[in-house]
Amino acid sequence: MAVRDLDDYPWDAVAPYAQTARSHPRGIVDLSIGSPVDPAPEVVVAAIAASADAHAYPQTAGTSALREAIVAWYARRRGVPGLTVDEVLPTVGSKELVALLPLLLDITVGDIVVHPRAAYPTYAVGARLVGATPVAADDPAEWPEGTKLIWLNSPGNPDGRVLGVDDYRAAVARARALGAVIASDECYGELGWDGEWASAPVPSILDPRVTSGVRTGLLSVYSLSKQSNLAGYRAAFAAGDSALIARLLTARKHLGLMVPGPVQAAMTAALGDDRHVRAQKELYRARRAVLRPALERAGFRIDRSEGGLYLWASEGDDAWVSMGRLAKHGILAGPGHFYGAHFPDHVRFSLTASDERIAEAARRLAGS
Ligand SMILES: Cc1ncc(COP(=O)(O)O)c(C=O)c1O
Repeated sequence: MAVRDLDDYPWDAVAPYAQTARSHPRGIVDLSIGSPVDPAPEVVVAAIAASADAHAYPQTAGTSALREAIVAWYARRRGVPGLTVDEVLPTVGSKELVALLPLLLDITVGDIVVHPRAAYPTYAVGARLVGATPVAADDPAEWPEGTKLIWLNSPGNPDGRVLGVDDYRAAVARARALGAVIASDECYGELGWDGEWASAPVPSILDPRVTSGVRTGLLSVYSLSKQSNLAGYRAAFAAGDSALIARLLTARKHLGLMVPGPVQAAMTAALGDDRHVRAQKELYRARRAVLRPALERAGFRIDRSEGGLYLWASEGDDAWVSMGRLAKHGILAGPGHFYGAHFPDHVRFSLTASDERIAEAARRLAGS
């Protein structure tokens, strides 16, 4: 497998449905790609503007201020005290890290990369790029010998599944038995909604209840795209095992992929300000409270979705049939086919639309 062997970009297949949806007299309600629609926080915009004179190369490892902000954020927001600045690394977006991690970890032909059954497609792309075999399996007992990297994702995209401390402990035990690295993609970590996660924070893989203080082989991957509406900044980071972080840093020093200086300043500001994150979460909570019952009344069953930025729904038909029906109402969603082979009857609805568009979707789903 090589770059030339990558499939067509799956979202291109949605274009005809988007065209139908756009022709609705009251306009499209685009709930497909989870691209934030609310403004970047003022504190972040001010920070990037103040550092626009970026004449020098940025530091690959990140400025001290940024590394310290990441460390403080893990302690404050993710229940992970005691990281050091050598255990964190800013990255250019997390999609880029997800796609390149197998390469950066020397994973190669014949190795196995495990990812969730309902999964963000880039986990498999990164595996295939280096000739490794992606395997979709949630149960640690099913992770095969030969596995070198395991991707977890909590809260999950597309299904909103949240992993608790016991889930993580079982995953870490199995990974250690296999000698595999576990990377936990936690970019929706601030967005817990239902059940236990209505009141308790969504755990990180680096939570001491999971690690008992031993972070060997473990990486947590986070992004400011969603919590801070910074998808256009490509602002993300990884944290965990200091030896793995050092390997990634060395590779990145050779390859480039430096986070631009103004973005590092913006990230530092974002990580120091919890207020905008709380406010953004309330916007998504309100949109979810409108969209979820509207989908249920229209005949969709909502599965999982206890955390994250999406509603994972099925009306029992093939997703392309649902997509066609929704498009006639001017609503665009994401078909389950894009997230692996196991959920052809599911559709993903993103909460990343304005209050007005979400209300409009609810009206249309109710038939008016
Ligand atoms: C599970 C998951 N990981 C990573 C990403 C990529 O985020 P970023 O904007 O940091 O590249 C996304 C984006 O939708 C995602 O859903």
